Amino acid sequence: MEVVTTAGASEFDVVVIGGGPGGYATALYGASAGLAVAVVEQGRVGGTCLHRGCVPAKEFLETAAVMRTVAGAKEFGVQAGQPAVDFAVSQGRKQKVVEHLWKGLAGLMKGRGIVTYEGTGTLLPGRRVRVQGASGTEEIAGRHVVLATGSTPRTIPGFDVDGRLVLTSDEVLALESLPSSVAVIGGGAIGCEFASMFSDLGSQVTVLEALPSLLPGCDADVVAVVARSFRKRGINVHTGVPVTGHSPNGSGTTVSFGDGESVTVDAVVVSVGRRPLTEGALADGTGVQVDERGFVVVDDHMRTGAEGVWAVGDVVNTPQLAHVGFAEGIVVVKGILGEPVVPVDYTRVPWCIYCHPEVAFAGLTEEQAKAQGMEVVVKKDPYGGNSRARIVGETDGLVKVVAERGPDERAGRILGVHMVGPWVTEQLGQGYMAVNWEATPDEIGQFIQPHPTLSEAFGETVLALTGRGLHVG
Ligand code: NAI
Repeated sequence: MEVVTTAGASEFDVVVIGGGPGGYATALYGASAGLAVAVVEQGRVGGTCLHRGCVPAKEFLETAAVMRTVAGAKEFGVQAGQPAVDFAVSQGRKQKVVEHLWKGLAGLMKGRGIVTYEGTGTLLPGRRVRVQGASGTEEIAGRHVVLATGSTPRTIPGFDVDGRLVLTSDEVLALESLPSSVAVIGGGAIGCEFASMFSDLGSQVTVLEALPSLLPGCDADVVAVVARSFRKRGINVHTGVPVTGHSPNGSGTTVSFGDGESVTVDAVVVSVGRRPLTEGALADGTGVQVDERGFVVVDDHMRTGAEGVWAVGDVVNTPQLAHVGFAEGIVVVKGILGEPVVPVDYTRVPWCIYCHPEVAFAGLTEEQAKAQGMEVVVKKDPYGGNSRARIVGETDGLVKVVAERGPDERAGRILGVHMVGPWVTEQLGQGYMAVNWEATPDEIGQFIQPHPTLSEAFGETVLALTGRGLHVG
């Protein structure tokens, strides 16, 4: 229960600063365990993921999928005409989805007895938290404080975000109409998702990526499928090109890149990563350390250097994924309760990128495994041979399983599962389990896969790794 101290401040078992996925997961899990929890949030609970990130972006990507389906309907004998998008309606639907989930989350938190303070939270020494809200300032205290203040889009010099010519994900997700041409700077997860979305909705898209390939960090075979699909759909992808600046002209702007090249577009989307957000969150003398890039420094139990102060989510230097924030919140609560803690293994978390075709993976890529000196056995199963993929008409993609080569030369422990293609973000579960269970193909190959399904491609690939496949050689 929340108690009021002799100094008059409300004191909780846990005060969480920031109500995004990292923060609200900590709060919900802590409250489930009977802790008295407060959350301080300056905007709306749900954070970047719900209001300016994952959820609205995937909602728009679903709009893009509906466009593709309707455009391809003729092939199935369904006469639907050429689709056109009314983006104001799409924006309205997206917002309805967000509002519904936001109200659900707020209700869930309230139902669990979590006290939400509206305002900006600042950690003071002694695990006190100052809340500056519209109606004034108050101070609360926690036996434990969890920093979960998240991140914000990075920008690049010369590209001042104005919401018209230069946009980050924050502005893209609030657009009321679609630009007819876009340059996307950065070909990472956000860049590829937006490039895919804008292209499917009818904009002319150019992607400018500084590194030699799209989606750095993803398996090369997976990236090749995405790059081929983007090319086929008319997305211009330039890799290995530094962006040097832009000059506005009339209603658009000309972006210069590479060796004197340029492209003129209606809008520029800057998706070059996100930086941690700690401005205003830490008063002097708290003992919390922040590194040179602005991340709060934590150990593998998410403890900062200050006794009883923890940090989770995008504000710490771990994969900036909502579900990683959830997992870190659980680690914190178990740590607070003094229960055994299994730290998050960041090399094996699930990654899902919702561009078309989708990408999903967990564990090491073939290149990473080899770079670590491992001998590997690899099998790939293209979706082209999968019945369900043929039925739904989505055959671009593959499943690739990377296993460690055992002393008997056979495939042993599964190191990585990499997927690209239809609904792979919904199919990664089995692969994620296999990687994290350190299962072998002999073990996984015994499980029956329902047929015809997209997900049997994983089972087929694993069976092939035992040395005896059915459809995959
Ligand atoms: P990112 O770090 O994934 O990709 C940024 C890309 O921009 C990199 O490929 C980088 O080489 C490139 N870049 C940087 N500076 C550049 C420049 N000046 N010119 C051209 N290219 C440049 O960051 P992103 O895509 O903005 O996403 C931010 C975070 O959010 C990431 O951690 C990402 O994993 C996460 N996220 C995950 C999603 C998912 O899993 N579905 C979706 C959206 C975001």
